[in-house]
Amino acid sequence: MTSRIQPVDPLRPEPERLNAAADLLRRAALVAFPTETFYALGADATDAAAVDRVFAAKGRPQGMPLPVIVGDRDEVARVVSRLPEGAAALMDVFWPGPLTLVLPRAGAVPLITTGGLETVAARVPSHPVARALIEASGRHIAAPSANRSGWPSPTRAEHVRDDLDGRIELILDGGPTPVGVESTVLDMTTEPPMLLRPGGVTLEDLKDCLGEVDVFGGDHEEAAGRSPGLRYRHYAPRAQVLIVEAGTGERVVVPWLEAGRPVALMTQRPVSLERPGLQVKIMPGDLVAYARELFAALRELDSTGVEGIFVEAVTQEGLGLTIMDRLRRAAS
Ligand code: TXA
Ligand code: MG
Repeated sequence: MTSRIQPVDPLRPEPERLNAAADLLRRAALVAFPTETFYALGADATDAAAVDRVFAAKGRPQGMPLPVIVGDRDEVARVVSRLPEGAAALMDVFWPGPLTLVLPRAGAVPLITTGGLETVAARVPSHPVARALIEASGRHIAAPSANRSGWPSPTRAEHVRDDLDGRIELILDGGPTPVGVESTVLDMTTEPPMLLRPGGVTLEDLKDCLGEVDVFGGDHEEAAGRSPGLRYRHYAPRAQVLIVEAGTGERVVVPWLEAGRPVALMTQRPVSLERPGLQVKIMPGDLVAYARELFAALRELDSTGVEGIFVEAVTQEGLGLTIMDRLRRAAS
């Protein structure tokens, strides 16, 4: 079986195409589609058999919970049992959008979806294709990123095809995704709430809304308990990724090149060094654009067969924090 790829208009998705995709979802099939952050691998979140196939298709270890996307606040009330203080305010400000809230699970969501946890990670996406699919299917949709476990998250339909062809029924191709970093994951079941995964909504944004926010930073084991996704080297290409200080790129690649090892350099500066075996990728100075292009750039460089990808560090403020978090995971 090869997966069917169906182009859709990202702004005004064609109803008949969406209805066909929604039918598939209702019949326990797997459908990949664009969200504003990444392509998602969608399945009916309440159907244990469909969810089981998501784990198989991604090669994702059981016990690693899947996030769930819903159409609006009313629908959230059907997947969570209670709204902790502060949650409603966050929804007002950041939904629809790239903020995933970990909330107490309602019985409608089976434990296989939540990896056995009594919480569910939910968000309302803003991408018109994701929204239309939720509406047409009438289902809550499990929506992890549509990549093989351990590979970079997909910002284009071709990335999904590269990873999952033959393992899923349909890929809705709505073009490149607009944000290109995952949603921020915030655990609302602790007091104060705890940032588990930096993402499109920044820590500063959350603090403006909530006051106090803890940042998960400590011990690896604790992270694994709270958000099993943090346990894995999630965003890694096959080449070794090495983070280096800004401005040092030309220097650090030389020993590799002299040893005959092809490498890539990702930097925000113009670079004049030209050497056989060296690929230079100039990334945008603007962090929003940088974030959007990051994963496609890693995939592109990786596909050239380089042994190492040297990435110059970006600033640690705002979205820079999110970008550095992704880079560190890719490098670990
Ligand atoms: O932006 C996004 O959220 C994308 C797009 C496709 O919607 N999805 C995504 O899914 O990034 P995934 O499965 O790659 O990452 C979901 C993260 C994982 O780190 C997972 O451990 C965490 O959310 N998560 C899911 N359910 C959780 C729960 N009940 N408690 C704590 N963390 C949870
Ligand atoms: Mg993922």
